[in-house]
Amino acid sequence: MSAEPIEDMCLTTRSGRDEWWRDAVVYQVYLRSFADGNGDGVGDFAGLRARLPYLASLGVDAVWVTPHYVSGGADGGYDVIDYTAVDPSYGTVEDVRALVADAHDLGLRVLLDIVPNHTSDQHEWFRRALEDPSSPEAARYHFMPPSENPPNNWQSMFGGPAWSRTPDGRWYLHLFTPQQPDLNWDNPEVADDFDRTLRFWFDLGVDGFRVDVAYGLFKDPAYRDNPGIYSPTLFGHGPEQVMTTNQARVHQIWRRWRAICDSYAEEKMLVGEVSLADLDQVGLYARPDEMHHAFQFRLLKSDWDAAAFASTITEALDAFAAVGAPAPWVLGNHDKARQVTRYGSERRARAAALLMLALPGSAYLYAGEELGLPEAPVPDTARRDPIFLRSNGARLGRDGCRIPMPWDSAAPAAGFSVADPWLPQPDGWAGYAVDRQEGDPASTLTMYQQAILLRDLYKAPGSGLASVTLEGEVIRVDLIARDGDPDPITVWINMGSETVTVPAHRLLLASSPDVGGPVAGKLTLAPDTAVWTRV
Ligand code: GLC
Repeated sequence: MSAEPIEDMCLTTRSGRDEWWRDAVVYQVYLRSFADGNGDGVGDFAGLRARLPYLASLGVDAVWVTPHYVSGGADGGYDVIDYTAVDPSYGTVEDVRALVADAHDLGLRVLLDIVPNHTSDQHEWFRRALEDPSSPEAARYHFMPPSENPPNNWQSMFGGPAWSRTPDGRWYLHLFTPQQPDLNWDNPEVADDFDRTLRFWFDLGVDGFRVDVAYGLFKDPAYRDNPGIYSPTLFGHGPEQVMTTNQARVHQIWRRWRAICDSYAEEKMLVGEVSLADLDQVGLYARPDEMHHAFQFRLLKSDWDAAAFASTITEALDAFAAVGAPAPWVLGNHDKARQVTRYGSERRARAAALLMLALPGSAYLYAGEELGLPEAPVPDTARRDPIFLRSNGARLGRDGCRIPMPWDSAAPAAGFSVADPWLPQPDGWAGYAVDRQEGDPASTLTMYQQAILLRDLYKAPGSGLASVTLEGEVIRVDLIARDGDPDPITVWINMGSETVTVPAHRLLLASSPDVGGPVAGKLTLAPDTAVWTRV
């Protein structure tokens, strides 16, 4: 297969704003696991603030913080009790204000995570709805009258039916855990309330939101069965979930939220979690009057396979180009086993990272991937993820990618906390610590720092132009030159098992030392290696 060059549309600034997000590197902080400032074993805002200089030296443009709200704790903070308050284990609203101020001083933007598809069952609306079926709050959720069987065949993403009973026998809908009742977005009071939440945090100086389950919110108004049997997962929903995801009405909400963003003098941005298999559908969420970024997870789902990587990159560039949006790339997050383990080696994870960081558009990094962290073993008794608990261990869940960060190899809990961390760090975790990797030219941390620095130097800001070619097990990505640069960057990744020779007269960056040359315009590339070159 050989992909045709992809032409993006003109990506010069349309709005008169700097559109920093178009080619930004965004670093995802899993707040509970990043850094503990108050010594209780749980990461918090004080810990994150203290580590902002680390993020600045890594070179990222923005930080996305996973949910920090008062929460029932049923799904790692994605079950929100109060959308305008900070969970006391993370700090206070004043801590968020201080974080934003410090981040801005360092040139970093701050994105929070917002969860509009569902609340916690302990949210005051749901509690009121349980007490009084005729209350206005009850009309903000999906309730059905008592009946022997659930109202339809909808399934929870975490396993089992998406309907649970109230104490008085009614059914209520939850696409995730029973502690996460789905909101009824056809009730205008719901949208009004979220407008207030957005403004609350924007007024505090926050620069944007990652929008949880942005392909959700609305459901089939007649509650018809989903077609056929399906086994729900967090990524890549197809037509089998057509009644519970991707309803056309959801786009009105993103237009409404975009208008709120655009009403601010400073630039505010939205990135939506759009776990749809059809990339053209994902692209629609990033139309110019909707969200700034729409995550696609095809690359994250791809195995170590050159054809799968190449076709995904091509199709994603195409889908976003069709709407004039930058492609946001992601290889790992708090819902997916770490790349080192998925691909089978740190060497492959490094090569994939170098490829991703070169692609046109924006890149999302998940805390710890710059240290080469593997998926960690977690004793069953320590696991917290509802996916593990609800499946009685049949699905391992996501705890292994949420282990607290190693900072200082000599300190207790590898410098994460003075107390025992909320999830145990496995043996050997301190070996990955930041202090071991900083300044070491061979470390994964140094490779990420260099790639982010070079990316800024060489890539056209906001460029969406590249051509992707598959040559056997090797992918070649030619970035289209910035104005006046006669010698643009070509990226190669060898995903096969044989060493190959590729044309190059200059080597800029390599993911492993096993690169020969360039000599006489040629460079040898060992398996599982990526390079940035001048051809
Ligand atoms: C998103 C989050 C995931 C969470 C789910 C329910 O997929 O990334 O962590 O469990 O939404 O809120």
